[in-house]
Amino acid sequence: MNILGIETSCDETSAAVVYQGKKVLSNIVSSSLKEHVPYGGVIPEIASRRQLEFINRICARSLSAAGLDLKHIDAIAVTRNPGLIGSLLVGLSFARALSFAIRKPLVLVNHIKAHAYANFLERPDLPGKTGDRIPRPRLPAVALIVSGGHTSLFHITSFNHFRLLGQTLDDAAGEAFDKVAKVLELGYPGGPIIDRVAKRASRAYPRFNPALLPGTYDFSFSGVKTAVLYHYQRHKNDRTFSTEQVARSFQDSVVSILTRKSIDACLKLNCRTLLIGGGVAANSALRETASDEGRKNGIRVHVPPMSLCTDNAAMIAGLGFHLLTKGDN
Ligand code: KG4
Ligand code: ZN
Repeated sequence: MNILGIETSCDETSAAVVYQGKKVLSNIVSSSLKEHVPYGGVIPEIASRRQLEFINRICARSLSAAGLDLKHIDAIAVTRNPGLIGSLLVGLSFARALSFAIRKPLVLVNHIKAHAYANFLERPDLPGKTGDRIPRPRLPAVALIVSGGHTSLFHITSFNHFRLLGQTLDDAAGEAFDKVAKVLELGYPGGPIIDRVAKRASRAYPRFNPALLPGTYDFSFSGVKTAVLYHYQRHKNDRTFSTEQVARSFQDSVVSILTRKSIDACLKLNCRTLLIGGGVAANSALRETASDEGRKNGIRVHVPPMSLCTDNAAMIAGLGFHLLTKGDN
């Protein structure tokens, strides 16, 4: 079964063809990110206008990159939520019209769950015949989804059963990275910049304690973000002030709480698999800390390749296959 996936939840317009929920035949992504840079964040009106301009071309390119025609498509999967309403509407309307025109089923997919599914797509970037040097993740699993719009922890027992364990009560982790980078005058999007800048720090200083919210799997990042702001306002002109050290300390704080709650959830639920997904999964400190902690606790940590961490339609088509066929593997 070939599924055409369509993703338009934010500033990326993406279309992909995925075979049997696993093999990515094409995955085309176009982004209006550059246009949002001067504003320090995504402007919904600009994003949705670009979605409208790109959607047709990106779908056509995705089909031709897969070497297929619309007649080879068995179903269409599209992001239903969450996301920017204008951007979502473009993809949803386009997908609905296309499914009606080619008389093929339409399946609506949750964007956050699809980020977790990205870990189950085949990995042509890894050597080996099946593209599976790292064994495919096994269910049940705990999934940590961290991006600019969401921070959620799920218990996944099958592709049709995701139980939400906890989520952020305020800013998403990526949003906190972006806002802290803005405070430190580092630019946008802040995640990759902080990741890079933090590597140059000789130490993490001062310590920013993460919000623990004990007894829950919820997160809160607004406190640490405000702590960075106050520290910056008070000390930015000190001779010893170091942007690198503050960036590293902020990153340590976010990474430590994300890792701690994810590993705790795995241990409590007796899961040996931790899946990480979303744009912040690209963070080098998070990847390193999570896999170190996983190793210590006998938990295998999976993170998709970079191209499947950020928003893409392959993950939508992949999860769409399982929703449509009600298959778990
Ligand atoms: O998943 P994504 O592409 O879009 C959303 O659905 O939000 O995630 C984008 C977010 C941004 O906030 C960006 O700053 C963050 O992911 N990000 C990172 C890194 N690369 C991207 N955050 C921390 N470290 C990174 N290396
Ligand atoms: Zn996303």
